[in-house]
Amino acid sequence: MAIPLIIDTDPGVDDAFAIALAARSPEVKLVGLTTVFGNVGLEHTTRNAQRLLAHLGRTDVPVVKGAEGPGGASDVHGEDGLGGQAHTLPESDKGLHGEDVTKFFADNLTPDTVVAAIGPLTNIAAALDGGITFPRLIVMGGGLGIGNMTLRAEFNFWADPEAAQVVIRKGNPIIVPLNLTQRCIADTEFLANVDPVLSNLTGTYREYLARHSEQNFSEREEGILVHDAVAVAEAIVPGTLKTRTHLLDIDDEGALVEGKYQVEVAEDTDWPALMSFMAQRLSG
Ligand code: BDR
Ligand code: CA
Repeated sequence: MAIPLIIDTDPGVDDAFAIALAARSPEVKLVGLTTVFGNVGLEHTTRNAQRLLAHLGRTDVPVVKGAEGPGGASDVHGEDGLGGQAHTLPESDKGLHGEDVTKFFADNLTPDTVVAAIGPLTNIAAALDGGITFPRLIVMGGGLGIGNMTLRAEFNFWADPEAAQVVIRKGNPIIVPLNLTQRCIADTEFLANVDPVLSNLTGTYREYLARHSEQNFSEREEGILVHDAVAVAEAIVPGTLKTRTHLLDIDDEGALVEGKYQVEVAEDTDWPALMSFMAQRLSG
């Protein structure tokens, strides 16, 4: 039976790839998208979620509007969150639910449901504080000794450090950190074979990486990092990522630090297998 999957997301170009991966994978049944501010503001991320579902032929999937906050990555993802190309996806007002995210989780989680959280953790922390228990929670976020917002803080944790603390301390998550996801490079060759509507979203992101090539991305100028798709791949095929337990916490700026909380951290994968899985599922 297909695994029920809810994605908490801030689309976002790599979120778009992750959502498409899930929508095109028969191993999972997409139960809903819950939206959060992050790469851009909530109005954009919610509208992008609806447009992506329309493009993927999945307007049956509910979209639940979650927490608002300041958008922080329009330099990477464009002002509209999708590289200035959101308008190339079908406009859609379908699927929007009036209820709040915690209620949606309360009504829809079953013992088999997997939640993949690929944006700031505001919705997830609110649900945990509201008494929700996630049977399996996979979180893209954090970096062990590295960051992409500050030297040690990764974007999703940096955007709401208090929420990240709640999730690490009581959410029992599997963390999929930057150390792993920054190796997930959709290069020119990869992008040439994916659904052209998706690859068309990547221009701003590729330009951003090219501009920052001296610091970080010399060999990646022509690609994007599809962080969020790595976490969703683990939701689709459990065991894709090799994990190990660490003792961690989150500091006030959102950096993963040593601590007393046991956290499962994804450390490695079979890269050729994962990249060909993604290429096949996302092909145009
Ligand atoms: C994370 O931050 C966002 O910009 C991406 O969508 C991803 O979820 C990577 O640090
Ligand atoms: Ca994201």
